[in-house]
Order: sequence, then structure tokens, then C-alpha cells
Amino acid sequence: MLKMILDLDTGIDDGMALAYAIGSKEIELIGVTGTFGNVYTEDGVQNVLNILNMCDANHVPVYAGESHAMNQSSFDRLEVSARIHGENGVGQVSIETSPRQKEEGSAIDFLIESIKKYKKDLVIVATGPMTNLTLALKKAPEIKEMMGRVVIMGGALTVPGNASPYTEANISQDPEAAKYLFESGVDVTMVGLDVTQRSLLTNAHTQSWRETGSVAGKTYADMVDYYISQHFDTNGCYLHDPSAVINAVHPEFFTVLPMHMTVVTEGEAVGRTIGDPYKLRDANPNVKVCIGVNSPELVNHLHKTLMSLFKK
Ligand code: BDR
Ligand code: CA
Repeated sequence: MLKMILDLDTGIDDGMALAYAIGSKEIELIGVTGTFGNVYTEDGVQNVLNILNMCDANHVPVYAGESHAMNQSSFDRLEVSARIHGENGVGQVSIETSPRQKEEGSAIDFLIESIKKYKKDLVIVATGPMTNLTLALKKAPEIKEMMGRVVIMGGALTVPGNASPYTEANISQDPEAAKYLFESGVDVTMVGLDVTQRSLLTNAHTQSWRETGSVAGKTYADMVDYYISQHFDTNGCYLHDPSAVINAVHPEFFTVLPMHMTVVTEGEAVGRTIGDPYKLRDANPNVKVCIGVNSPELVNHLHKTLMSLFKK
């Protein structure tokens, strides 16, 4: 079993990534850390607690992380996130409030302790801004040498962004954090819009979740139907965050191009993920950039895993 921590800004597709991790027989979910992005950190953390409770996974500890980007003092939620994910982050669907509270400690300390404990056996999947992870690396630089893979959902190499023509939302909300992570020497895989927008879930999938008759199946069907309704250019919804968590377990579904990646932190294109022109001739590229995906296989695998969770 692959030990995993999820760093989420929950968010409907973060919620799908979480359900996949709970339902997967290949993942041991060590904990969840919450960040800002689709919602404010405290609301995202509450969504995680509620989802874990609904899916009988109350053994998974949940920690709150940063509430804003590294070089800002507060967080302004993007209007587009409120529309796509609903005001409450889960498509205006009401999920029973968990009786459980988040853990006392900070997400950053939890990340540091877990990396020291599990070392290369732990994979961290970040599907919001990379602030928590980067602050952990800055606070305890010795973990860089110890840690295993990091998979992020973020960025775009070959397609336009979704937060601006240049930028993808997770990177654009804390470009300095993403840049630091990319240049840290850690083993990073970038699952960007190049691949996440190629895989779609449709109302036919959500209808079969609903037909399981379980509370989780019905709730997820309502959440994802809302998400689908906010995609005006397709008949389904993009699989951003689920693609990242699936990459951690099934890298064979993806085509990867190792590159020297950096992030633009100034000017009009701030937040853009781009090749580092100063490193062109250097050996050992720093980021494994996903450029292709076997979408039918990924969608089928995700659907099967979620069905097995919802049927319980
Ligand atoms: C990313 O931004 C958020 O809206 C989604 O949850 C995903 O992590 C896509 O750009
Ligand atoms: Ca997300």
C-alpha cells in the first residue's frame, strides 16, 4: 500500500480525489492537510471532515494549513472558484456535519513529522496552492533529502490557463510557493491542465453512483452534477485533482516529459509554468511534466474505485 498525504483546497474535484484515496485498495491515507484556494482554509477543512465522516474514514487525521499565499497577508477567493465549486465548495450540497474536529497541530508540522517518519515511502499529493508544502521545506530543509515523490495538480505547459490566459488556478494563487517547490530538488511530478482537461466524467457516471442508493453515492452524484453544470464547453467535468492522485498510484497511465521548469513571478504572466531558459543545457531536469494520459483507462479506473466505495 502506498502511504499518502493529501493537501487539498476542497473543492468538488478535491473531494473526488479524496474519495478515490479513501476507496483505493492501493493507498493508505496517512492524513489530510487543508489549504486555501477554491474555498477559505477553514471551510475546506470542514468539507474534508464531513466527507471522511460520510465515507466511514474517521481514522484519517485532518490538519488546517495556511490561510493565504506566502507573500500576502490575506486571501481573496477567486469569483470563478465560488461559481464552479459553489459557495460552500461542494456544489451547494449539504453534507452532514462531522462530529469530529480537526487536529490541534499545524499542517506544516504534520507534513514535516510525517516525512521524517515515512521518508521515501510517503507520497504527498497537493491539489491546491503549494503553500503548505513549501513552508514545510523552508522550516525543515533537511526533509528535502529524505522525502519521496510529490505530485501536484497545477500549471499548464501546452494549453492556455484557466485563471488567466497564462495561468492555472493553483499556481496562480501562490506562484512563489510553486517556484520554490519546483526548484527545491524534490522529486516533483506536475499534472497540469494539459492532461486533466482531457479526461471527463459525465452525468451517466454520476447517475450510477446515485443508483447505489448510499448517502455517499447520492451526495457525490449531486456534487459532481453541480460541477458538470458549471462546465460550459464540454458534456462533463474535467478531472483535475483526481488525475493527480491517480498519477501517484498509476504513473503508467501518463506520458511524462522531464523538464527544467520554473514559475513566472513578475509581470503580466505571473503564475505561468514555463521551461527555465537558464537551465536548458543542465543535466537532471527538476520536474516530471505530464503531457499525455490514457483517458479511457483513467476514467474507467476512477469510476470503478468510486463505485466500490459508494456501494459499501
Ligand atoms: C485546480 O483549481 C481548482 O479549482 C481545482 O480544485 C483544481 O485543483 C484546477 O485549476
Ligand atoms: Ca483543488
